[in-house]
Amino acid sequence: VRTSSSDSVADAFNRMAEEYDDLQDVWYPHFFRTIERIVTGTFPSATPATRVLDVGCGTGLQSHLFRSLGYDVTGVDIAADLIEKARAKCSEPDAHLRFQVASAMDLPFADGKFDIAVCCGGVLGFVPDHRKALAEIARIIRPGGRALIEVDTRWNLDLLWALGDNLTGGWFGYEQPFKESVKNIVTRRDRGVDIRYPFTKLDGEVEYLYSHLFTTREIEADCEAVGFRVEARRAIHSVSNILPSTWLAHPKLPGILRKLIDPVLKLDNHVSSRLPFLRLGNSYVLTLRRALSD
Ligand SMILES: C[S@@+](CC[C@H](N)C(=O)[O-])C[C@H]1O[C@@H](n2cnc3c(N)ncnc32)[C@H](O)[C@@H]1O
Repeated sequence: VRTSSSDSVADAFNRMAEEYDDLQDVWYPHFFRTIERIVTGTFPSATPATRVLDVGCGTGLQSHLFRSLGYDVTGVDIAADLIEKARAKCSEPDAHLRFQVASAMDLPFADGKFDIAVCCGGVLGFVPDHRKALAEIARIIRPGGRALIEVDTRWNLDLLWALGDNLTGGWFGYEQPFKESVKNIVTRRDRGVDIRYPFTKLDGEVEYLYSHLFTTREIEADCEAVGFRVEARRAIHSVSNILPSTWLAHPKLPGILRKLIDPVLKLDNHVSSRLPFLRLGNSYVLTLRRALSD
């Protein structure tokens, strides 16, 4: 497994603090809207007696969502500047919403303290030891409690787009070396791969950090190994990846493509929990329940 240090991951995300919530593309808004729909559909409104931990909360998108549904929410992240952004979104002091800097691999909370944990936005792919983070998440949830985990996945059309990018001299903007795009297709098919993910530095230089792309079976097995049972599964961006994700994530996507993509995104919502689309998304979302006893 190839990973980047937590410090370099934190630095890279800290640099994104100003623009993280400024979504002008179509890829990320669809992703966040889908997560929001899953959260509201899976976790109906509650009182602050129900405690949620948002692991890798970033600017607090899911934290604030859970809080708006009535839960008591704690958000943790290694990127201090994103934590500041998450805090700044509270218009007034709220005793039931707090944020702190902490690593997913070492959660500073007692066993079974939370009813629900959420870990969305590809967080686990950046954690040097995602199994350790999953074990921590399972530990801080009470027996019978639930989790919502989302990971970026390996088997989707981006594999072909990245290859096509190399064959067309860079039409699709993947900037993935040819060898790597081939390797991502042919190496051990039962396991995920570690890809180099580009982050732009303030001086415009591009820094590549490793991110793990999971297979759906791999993340399910890793969740089950720490005592979770899978309750529901769904994919995001399986149909919409009929276009390169690099195009859909581009803030200046031409208007004509924006119009054309709308029905495709609706279709994506419609079919993403069914096979084969379930296995072919760019993201895989699991609703989990912690066993009542170990
Ligand atoms: C793409 S962001 C997702 C943030 C948020 N959950 C969302 O959906 O907008 C990934 C986040 O994972 C955080 N992260 C990466 N490694 C981490 C670790 N070891 N512990 C805690 N957070 C981590 C990053 O700092 C970043 O905020």
